[in-house]
Amino acid sequence: MFARVCDPMRQNFASLQTCVMKTNMDLEYNGALTPFYWKGSPRAVSFDAAGIQQKLASTDLPCFIVQDFRGRIGASNEGELTANGKGLQLLAMANALPPSQLGDPSFREDYNLKYAYKTGAMANGIASEELVIAVGRAGLLGSFGAAGLVPARVLQAIEKIQGGLPNEPYAFNLIHSPNEKALEAGAVKLYLEKGVHIVEASAFLALTEHIVHYRVAGLSRDQEGGVVINNKVIAKISRKEVAAHFMQPAPERFLKLLLEKGKITPMQAELAASVPMADDITVEADSGGHTDNRPLVALLPSIIQLRDELQEKHQFEQKIRIGAAGGISTPASALAAFMMGAAYVVTGSANQACVEAGTSEHVRQLLATVDSTDVIMAPASDMFEMGVELQVLKRGTLFGPRAKKLYEYYQRYKSIEEIPAEERLKMEKQVFQKPLEAVWQDCIEFFRNRDPEQIERAEGNPHRKMALVFRWYLGLSSNWANAGTPGRAQDYQIWCGPAMGAFNDWVKGTYLEDYRNRRAADVAEQIMQGAAYLYRVQTLKMQGVAFPLEWGRFVPQREQMEEKLYYPG
Ligand SMILES: Cc1cc2nc3c(=O)[nH]c(=O)nc-3n(C[C@H](O)[C@H](O)[C@H](O)COP(=O)(O)O)c2cc1C
Repeated sequence: MFARVCDPMRQNFASLQTCVMKTNMDLEYNGALTPFYWKGSPRAVSFDAAGIQQKLASTDLPCFIVQDFRGRIGASNEGELTANGKGLQLLAMANALPPSQLGDPSFREDYNLKYAYKTGAMANGIASEELVIAVGRAGLLGSFGAAGLVPARVLQAIEKIQGGLPNEPYAFNLIHSPNEKALEAGAVKLYLEKGVHIVEASAFLALTEHIVHYRVAGLSRDQEGGVVINNKVIAKISRKEVAAHFMQPAPERFLKLLLEKGKITPMQAELAASVPMADDITVEADSGGHTDNRPLVALLPSIIQLRDELQEKHQFEQKIRIGAAGGISTPASALAAFMMGAAYVVTGSANQACVEAGTSEHVRQLLATVDSTDVIMAPASDMFEMGVELQVLKRGTLFGPRAKKLYEYYQRYKSIEEIPAEERLKMEKQVFQKPLEAVWQDCIEFFRNRDPEQIERAEGNPHRKMALVFRWYLGLSSNWANAGTPGRAQDYQIWCGPAMGAFNDWVKGTYLEDYRNRRAADVAEQIMQGAAYLYRVQTLKMQGVAFPLEWGRFVPQREQMEEKLYYPG
């Protein structure tokens, strides 16, 4: 017997029915306590394992678990329910729930998507044009990893993605850069000029003039007088106080400033009062890269509640949606997020191991071997002085401990000269592979065109100079990883969260175990199909149906997506 009904649960079935009868309008016609029966063609019921599994997997059809007159338990996707005692006894049922129904329908409609699924930005073009185009063509929302790239490179990406996705959605990352303000302003200018209409705003601690500029410059009125939001903001946050900024209208002081500078019109400033700063808030739990390491189960409900409170206060016409990121890389984690109320899910770490990611073969291969515990927090290059950390891979690289050591030096000494000679020599030999003075010359060269003010500020401030020198290592180490630079493998900085290990566990023994088979759109399809399948399995389980253990796992099948995939040339 491959499916059975747990006896205690079955005894409770009548009371469960009572509940269903009272809440489900369609079924209310026959009175509350009557047991249901299933009527349909006997050929439509499977009693064998393969047949039952197939019925379970057809998530776009309902699934009825029935018992025949010989006591056998089977499954069907067809037939109808009756309460008149004729037919096979219905033991449990699950509604049709195709993956396209998971999440908030308005998220799919607003962005014209097949699934409520987004791939997160990954800096330095790791979330590459190929990745964004591949997921965009599959009906998902991809976000280009613009952080850390110079405007000319971002422009190149905009042109390529707009060419590759003429009618499909895509997003670009707008990352807050407290140390390099020119970059944030430059990105907004570029996005406005080039018609990038969706940004994934991240690393913000509070609102800035630039993000407000992007949002408000896209406001207009339609013919009925309603507000049209042309520039969508999906803000990624991991703290309530930051989320609150994005869930409210743009602050007056920024509107005033932008009006004075002629960057927005008086009408746009007026319209800004009636819309929140973001359309969507992605709640980022324990993830790869920047993270506060919060558990999603704790964080998501709090932010949803905050949204409800602010929605009540402001009565926005379109309710802000709350999505989930951090730790999502399997059907189970995606389903958990949806069931907690996430409007959409965002993946990151798992995509870095996909063939489209703008990283090296070495990194992809390494990522496919890691466990969820093979990660560590290390100082972040962009907010080094503030002590901000990000999550990186621990296995196969010494970046984590080396970067931590640099931060220790930064805290202990006020200048490079204060570092004891022996320690300095060791650092120059092992970590920098050149004298620190030569590194400083590289820094001058690097910032000459990009942001010369950085050097001016450091010239008279030895502590700041030390920070820039250390940031040379922190910044380059991710480039080395992306390029697969020989002789630097021990210094590769690979942003990664526990989701990577969870993904590897899930796909073990399937075609996706081989990193060369991992394609971002296929991975997304498998996660979403799997989430719908698990929803079905869990729904039936909670009604008392017990399955063999292995049925509780969704096994990715290669055939599923093959013909739908876009293969970048
Ligand atoms: C390699 C890598 C680079 C990332 N870079 C950025 C970035 O530049 N901007 C950003 O908003 N998020 C960045 N993230 C976070 C992802 O967009 C995503 O939110 C996160 O990875 C989701 O959590 P997960 O890693 O647990 O899947 C990065 C993540 C990774 C793994």
